[in-house]
Amino acid sequence: MAMLKSSLAFLVLAFAFFLCFIMSTGSYDYFQFVQQWPPTNCRVRIKQPCSNPRPLQYFTIHGLWPSNYSNPTMPSNCIGSQFEWRKLYPHMRSKLKISWPDVESGNDTKFWEGEWNKHGTCSVEKLNQMQYFERSYAMWRSYNITKILQNASIVPSTTRTWTYSDIVSPIKAATGRTPLLRCKQDKKTQLLHEVVLCFDYNALIHIDCNRTAGCRNPLSISFE
Ligand SMILES: *[C@@H]1O[C@H](CO)[C@@H](O)[C@H](O)[C@H]1NC(C)=O
Ligand SMILES: *[C@@H]1O[C@H](CO)[C@@H](O)[C@H](O)[C@H]1NC(C)=O
Ligand SMILES: *[C@@H]1O[C@H](CO)[C@@H](O)[C@H](O)[C@H]1NC(C)=O
Ligand SMILES: *[C@@H]1O[C@H](CO)[C@@H](O)[C@H](O)[C@H]1NC(C)=O
Ligand SMILES: *[C@@H]1O[C@H](CO)[C@@H](O)[C@H](O)[C@H]1NC(C)=O
Repeated sequence: MAMLKSSLAFLVLAFAFFLCFIMSTGSYDYFQFVQQWPPTNCRVRIKQPCSNPRPLQYFTIHGLWPSNYSNPTMPSNCIGSQFEWRKLYPHMRSKLKISWPDVESGNDTKFWEGEWNKHGTCSVEKLNQMQYFERSYAMWRSYNITKILQNASIVPSTTRTWTYSDIVSPIKAATGRTPLLRCKQDKKTQLLHEVVLCFDYNALIHIDCNRTAGCRNPLSISFE
């Protein structure tokens, strides 16, 4: 009887560990590759202004986020190796300083560390730390949102606004896939903040994003 009890206890424990393992390895379905417009980050920061008073005028990387279709809160802070500075080779660091800067507080390493620990750890079964940053950089190079919008005459302006589809259409035309826009509310206007491109489980194939918009869709969007 005692034997049975202890083996039962063992099974329960083993199952609990198994559940923990499943949850913490952070299964995901696809990736969201998020690029941000730095002037918007700085516009909505009231408590602490951006370290650089003149924010960069091109879209920079916010992150590459493993995401779930069934569970809108993406897996985050999974168990896995934490960020290691030495795993980013110097040539990669200098590329990331241009493509993935911390436009708010100015500590790029801290930003990379935060993104890896929160999101990268959840897709480590597909991308190790080096691959995670390399892949993100390659995506940024391949999908130049600044250029696509410029080509469609969508350039920062304090006088005109756009509809959601005005901005989505040229991106869809240039990339062949539907992106997602995210906005930040600033007083009465919504400002374009981020453009999200979606990728498959392997972070290789560009796919349509099908979440609902992160901007309030029928309302006009400012891009300043
Ligand atoms: C994410 O989705 C996968 C497959 O659809 C599912 O197995 C997993 O439990 C989900 N993970 C979370 C954190 O919701
Ligand atoms: C930047 O962030 C890194 C990682 O969090 C930290 O080790 C470093 O001290 C920070 N640098 C400055 C100048 O605050
Ligand atoms: C993206 O496009 C802008 C505007 O055309 C250009 O200035 C910039 O160099 C491009 N960036 C990359 C990484 O190609
Ligand atoms: C620029 O715009 C033209 C049409 O106006 C389009 O055919 C082309 O794909 C666009 N190029 C880029 C890089 O967005
Ligand atoms: C988005 O697409 C995926 C994959 O095709 C599908 O499983 C999911 O249900 C879709 N979600 C919505 C909200 O349409």
